[in-house]
Amino acid sequence: MIIADKLMHASFIEGAQASNAKLSRFKHNSLEHLQILLNSTDTQQGQNTLVATEGVFSMDGDQAPLPEMVAISKQANAWLMVDDAHGFGTLGKHGRGVIETHNLSQQQVPIVMATFGKAIGTAGAFVAGSHDFIDYLINFASHYIYSTAMPAAQAYATLMSLQAKQSAERRTILAERIEQFKSLVNQAGLTLMPSNTAIQPLLIGDAQKALAASEKLKALGLWVTAIRYPTVPKHTDRLRITLTAGHETRDIEALVDGLQIVLLDKKEQMSDV
Ligand SMILES: Cc1ncc(COP(=O)(O)O)c(C=O)c1O
Repeated sequence: MIIADKLMHASFIEGAQASNAKLSRFKHNSLEHLQILLNSTDTQQGQNTLVATEGVFSMDGDQAPLPEMVAISKQANAWLMVDDAHGFGTLGKHGRGVIETHNLSQQQVPIVMATFGKAIGTAGAFVAGSHDFIDYLINFASHYIYSTAMPAAQAYATLMSLQAKQSAERRTILAERIEQFKSLVNQAGLTLMPSNTAIQPLLIGDAQKALAASEKLKALGLWVTAIRYPTVPKHTDRLRITLTAGHETRDIEALVDGLQIVLLDKKEQMSDV
């Protein structure tokens, strides 16, 4: 039995559907709904239940209530898995993501995975768990064992990225940019969706309007993607703003100027990008 957050990434949902497990989904970040599903008769076998969520949600930027989910899963004797594609490399003193920020152990979160295609800047992914679990995957995850392994050059580039000395400094810069952006947007009178991470969505609520805003921003030299249904639920079409440590203060100022010009019809000149 797999019980997954409603907003989990398509790659997880497709994997779950391809497995022999029964899949149910709980309302986004709803501990109450998760508890109801765990209490349902299907999950009485405990150990055969996997609760799955994301550390940082890819289209919303918000985070799962992990300490509470650890407690609920433990009580139900279920496994907990976290896909931390967007927290890994960006959150925690050492960049180890939400597991580090919440100071969680391997026993509390038996399965952690993240991709290398986000903060690490390469491609591929990892799964971390107990030795028994990893041995099990090596022996039974046929998609892994019967595919060409990651090329050595890619593994090396990933290793270099993971060991990069300037990473801690870049995480501090990223956190500053996020704060700067949120405060400037607030001053400008625009409302962001609740997020403290590098993913800062701005709800538009209409696919055409979101696309048009993205195009106008592009014409101003700003790359802000429009995310539409079916990637996100109907009527929650949005601009997905992704901040990085590579952005400078003036980029953030230009972005907020651009958002005001496009969304609030502000006439003033935009800062230099
Ligand atoms: C939460 C999450 N998990 C998994 C993936 C898949 O990662 P990749 O494209 O590196 O296979 C993504 C990519 O967008 C993601 O956002």
